[in-house]
Amino acid sequence: MQIQIEKILDNELKPLYSDPGKLGFGQVFTDYMFTMRFQPGKGWVESKIGPYTPFEINPAAVVLHYSQEIFEGLKAYVAPDGRILLFRPEQNAKRMYSSAKRMCMEPFPEEYFLESVKALVNLEKRWIPKAPGTSLYIRPTLVGLGAALGVHPASEYLFFIILSPVGAYYKEGFNPISLYVEDFYTRAVIGGVGEAKTGGNYAASLMAAAKAAEKGFTQVLWLDARENKYVEEVGSMNMFFVFGRKLVTPNLNGSILPGITRASVIQLAQSLGYQVEERPISIDEVVEGLQGGSLTEAFGSGTAAVISPVGSLYFRDKNYLVNNNQVGDVTRELYTKLVDIQYGKAADPFAWVQAIGAL
Ligand code: COI
Repeated sequence: MQIQIEKILDNELKPLYSDPGKLGFGQVFTDYMFTMRFQPGKGWVESKIGPYTPFEINPAAVVLHYSQEIFEGLKAYVAPDGRILLFRPEQNAKRMYSSAKRMCMEPFPEEYFLESVKALVNLEKRWIPKAPGTSLYIRPTLVGLGAALGVHPASEYLFFIILSPVGAYYKEGFNPISLYVEDFYTRAVIGGVGEAKTGGNYAASLMAAAKAAEKGFTQVLWLDARENKYVEEVGSMNMFFVFGRKLVTPNLNGSILPGITRASVIQLAQSLGYQVEERPISIDEVVEGLQGGSLTEAFGSGTAAVISPVGSLYFRDKNYLVNNNQVGDVTRELYTKLVDIQYGKAADPFAWVQAIGAL
């Protein structure tokens, strides 16, 4: 792939964020973005890195009417020796391929995915924050652009990547968050598109999230759509429940996202001697475990959320504390081990990180 680069003059570059400790999530964007188009008869063409700027979109574009859109999320980190690291980017490329297939979109070739991420991140390396807990969030996105109001897959596609220096996803940082267990609204159903990383899943979550936020909860914990009984995910992360030395996480049943952090936590936990069960877990089992004391900790996992301790669950008018609303030892151990690998501070026995350049 030959990437055309449209350079910005030095004196026109944006000023860097002033306090990396106050970045939050997804509010600051870098100078450049990557774009590439799929056109019928031509294939993937016009790979370009140019200024981060608004798009001009045909008002009849399929994405604007029928939400033919998918995205990914990954991060670039700076290691203590100055190397720029990505965490399992080939897994994001693969998942984006599967999401595209599910949404009837032209998949973006996996090798182009890695090449474009590497080229853009290297060009934008001054934006990678170095403060603890910060990183450069990478958001590859694919949208259906063909202009047509009939409900059909788009004929043209735009793939783009934008970058955002970020801190913690939740305002709590690495502190326990509160979850509202939603037992009316649902995020996704088996047979639907819950396992694809498509914007519609997130749009579907907004109303319940707003309701939960109004009541003071950090996020919604979704139950399955058929029986309103089994724990699914949080929307911004997969869930893990800790029973002493055993971890239970909902199995990939088609309606939850196959998280890359989720898969990594499973492998990491097993290597540390934990037993991991991927299986349906009902909200009743969770509540009983909390009441009886066998459920000792809970946490979520995700690229943006990393590993986030859960301090309480609110379900049907009752609030249940998890580990007395404190960060538990298992959660802390997994968080520290994972983050140390991601930031190149510890050995990487699983060959998860890829160095793509240096500062
Ligand atoms: C990620 O963790 O990268 C995600 O895509 C979750 C997001 C909705 C912030």
